[in-house]
Amino acid sequence: MKKTAELNLPDKENWGSRLGVVLAVAGSAVGLGNFLRFPGTAVNNGGGAFMIPYIISFILLGIPIAWCEWTIGRLGGRYGQNNAPGIMFALWRRAPAKVIGTMTVLIPVLVYVYYVLLEALCLRYAVEFFSGGFADTFQQAAAAGGSDVSSAVTEASSSFAKRSFGMAENGAMFGTEMLWYVLICFACNFVIIYRGITRGIETFCKIAMPLLVLCAIAILIRVLTLDNVVEGRTISSGLGFMWNPDWAKLWEPEVWLRAAGQIFFSLSVGFGLILCYSSYLRSDDDVVLSSLSASSTNEFCEVVLGGLIIVPTAFLFLGPGNTPDSTFALGFFTVPAIMHFMPGGSFFGGMWFGLLFLAAVTSSISMLQPATAFLEDGFGLKRRASVTILSMFTLAGASLVMYFSENLAALDFTDFWCEFMMIVAALGQVIIFGWVIGAERAFAETRRGAELKIPTFMPFVVRYITPTFLIVVLGMWCYFNGPDRLKKMSPSLQGDLAMRSVYEAAISAHFPDADDDALNTHVTKILGEGVSITAAIDLLPAWLRQVDEQATQARVPAERTASVARFVFVAIIILFLLMLGLADMACRGRIGKVIKQAEDVGVGLEEVA
Ligand code: ALA
Repeated sequence: MKKTAELNLPDKENWGSRLGVVLAVAGSAVGLGNFLRFPGTAVNNGGGAFMIPYIISFILLGIPIAWCEWTIGRLGGRYGQNNAPGIMFALWRRAPAKVIGTMTVLIPVLVYVYYVLLEALCLRYAVEFFSGGFADTFQQAAAAGGSDVSSAVTEASSSFAKRSFGMAENGAMFGTEMLWYVLICFACNFVIIYRGITRGIETFCKIAMPLLVLCAIAILIRVLTLDNVVEGRTISSGLGFMWNPDWAKLWEPEVWLRAAGQIFFSLSVGFGLILCYSSYLRSDDDVVLSSLSASSTNEFCEVVLGGLIIVPTAFLFLGPGNTPDSTFALGFFTVPAIMHFMPGGSFFGGMWFGLLFLAAVTSSISMLQPATAFLEDGFGLKRRASVTILSMFTLAGASLVMYFSENLAALDFTDFWCEFMMIVAALGQVIIFGWVIGAERAFAETRRGAELKIPTFMPFVVRYITPTFLIVVLGMWCYFNGPDRLKKMSPSLQGDLAMRSVYEAAISAHFPDADDDALNTHVTKILGEGVSITAAIDLLPAWLRQVDEQATQARVPAERTASVARFVFVAIIILFLLMLGLADMACRGRIGKVIKQAEDVGVGLEEVA
């Protein structure tokens, strides 16, 4: 610590307390992923059986990568670095370090530009519940809905979400009052970041985290005492619906991939968030127990609170078959409806979305800090300048995601490429920890100030098991998602497919008894093998011509979505290359100088035996 002080860096910040840093890291982890993504993913991937790949991923990926990030971050902080490229470069003077560091700054910024929109939606929903706006809308829908009240309310809730988010048409989101909620969220996030580590992030998380856990516990108690509100369905049958294991799912590799993806997103590992936060630790602050405490808080919020509230309640009020597999649909179509049916629904609904909003803010501020630190460390900017630049940049990014909101295309594709980069960045961090520094030496650093013993087999795990697991996950990710996503970037192919599905629907209406094979034969007979759709239209029998117009209409949005997918891909590559250039420039300049200064006074890796 004394040695680091000799670096004489301006405004070097540190966390104010152990509780503060644990709550900040836990706050970064606890977010929409816990309360919305986890229950939907678990119920659609084997229920209780999903917990096997999930726990294995937690032990072999979550815990080791979190320890690596906490250690690397704290070590980087001793070199005067709070930014990922600087931290990586301090530990490994090779080009790949800059690449991994750049990814680790870019990922959180990209996640932020869509995450903040979901955060804004949570805020809007909380306001709608507390102000009684939803109660009126849903009562009107129920009154107009005849006997099927639950479908009518769910439908009203879905169309509210679709309208708010502009899912029917590009640009529609700008036309609604959502924009104000987005701006409020931006203001909240950037004010907290502007106030800095202790006065901003730490203070906010110390209030928000206990508050959101208390709200979730209150809602959980409400949910678990909901018996006999719906004839023939009990909350325990809802819990059974969520958690009864479907063992067959364990044979599906995609289920393992989803479990690993959930661990990454939920624990915020591979994002570079932990790396950045832990760089503000003092050199003797514990990382072993703090890391485990933050991860356990996350798991409690995810499995106990997230896992017991939403899906069992959806089952209770809406019955089986109403738990959509997308996080967005579960959270914003289904949940408002079930909250409406719950006794005291306006209050509990407001509380639920209020807690989601708090959880989202504690996560989104952690996504802004890495880039802020990069601008400050790399280019010597003052807080005001770095926050202004980042707010303008992320507002522009969020505006693009808001504009290309038809079918949530921009959001979905940005999320997709971030997940890919997260796995690659995590692999890079583990390699730096286990191979470049060396697992034994790196764990010696982890043990500095530790208040818990690390199992002796951990160096082996980090050196061999975790990287192997990550390579397998990366391979599976590419195998299962790659070809499909590449096809989704082709407007002409997507247009053809959209038209084909309209033709198929028309044909199956004419041949209602046809099975899939027969249907396929009919379609191929009409369209011909390898015949282009346009040429095939001339071959269509008269009764199919009338659907041609419909098919042509279907083609347009499909092409648009594919163009957005292509745009997102190209934009991310360009951004990455630009940031890599900036990181390289900073490492040769200001960052490099500070690292050299640190080495001259003998801090950093030098101090590790
Ligand atoms: N870890 C954050 C979440 O789960 C990103 O929402």
